[in-house]
Amino acid sequence: MANDTPSKKSPSQKRITVPQFSALKQSAQKITMITAYDYPMARLVDEAGVEGVLVGDSLSMVVQGRENTLAVTLDEIIYHAEMVGRAIDRSLVIVDMPFPSYHLGKYKAIENAGRILKETRCQAVKLEGGVDQAETIEALVSAGIPVMAHCGLRPQSVHQLGGYRVQRDENALLSDARAAADAGAFAVVLECVPSTVAGRITEHVDIPTIGIGAGPDCDGQVLVLHDVLGITCDYVPRFVKAYADLQTEITGAVSKFRDEVRGGQFPGPKHGYN
Ligand code: KIV
Repeated sequence: MANDTPSKKSPSQKRITVPQFSALKQSAQKITMITAYDYPMARLVDEAGVEGVLVGDSLSMVVQGRENTLAVTLDEIIYHAEMVGRAIDRSLVIVDMPFPSYHLGKYKAIENAGRILKETRCQAVKLEGGVDQAETIEALVSAGIPVMAHCGLRPQSVHQLGGYRVQRDENALLSDARAAADAGAFAVVLECVPSTVAGRITEHVDIPTIGIGAGPDCDGQVLVLHDVLGITCDYVPRFVKAYADLQTEITGAVSKFRDEVRGGQFPGPKHGYN
């Protein structure tokens, strides 16, 4: 049979597995997850030692310059996930299922999630939903496709929600997280949820909760890489902390290059050939 795996790299044996990731809920240490969309950045975040790397549909905003996540296609996310999957040795790699790749019935969802696992070296998918997606999560898990759920603010439903708002309905949020866990999800992202509510959900579900704008009491935290590095060009939400100012570093380096070319300092003798 032809070997059409996307990379010659050895199988991901050293990587954190889905069961290992889930078991981190019982450890005293918080789980860390960050997004990546290409090979060099994925290598760096893997080296930094996070437990999870997410090929998020946030690529729509931070890489493609679009206004929301809705336009990302399955082919586009696979294109990025393949690069990330090839780079990662250690972390668990999760890929967002784009809108509406899991809304057209469970067989279509299995077909689309199956493509993600077949065409990239990634190990799991993430989809937005709880009670409403329980059947789909169950079908994917039955097909051997690990699922991370995403509850609270669901960016793919931005039009229905009327904007990116904090989600405060505690009963609905708890039901969503429970439904996802009962359907077999191995972890759940909680986005833009009051800290007390996220803390209660974390106590009441058996799978790890990974918060973003959900306070300190989740089992782990996720952020978008470009926000952490300080290279997000437009709006930055309140829950983001930038740990670097690469926007200044990058424009500074490129301006210096421009100045040295114009001033005749670059290229110098050591940058040429005899
Ligand atoms: O797409 C993404 O980056 C995400 C995170 C914000 C959790 O879903």
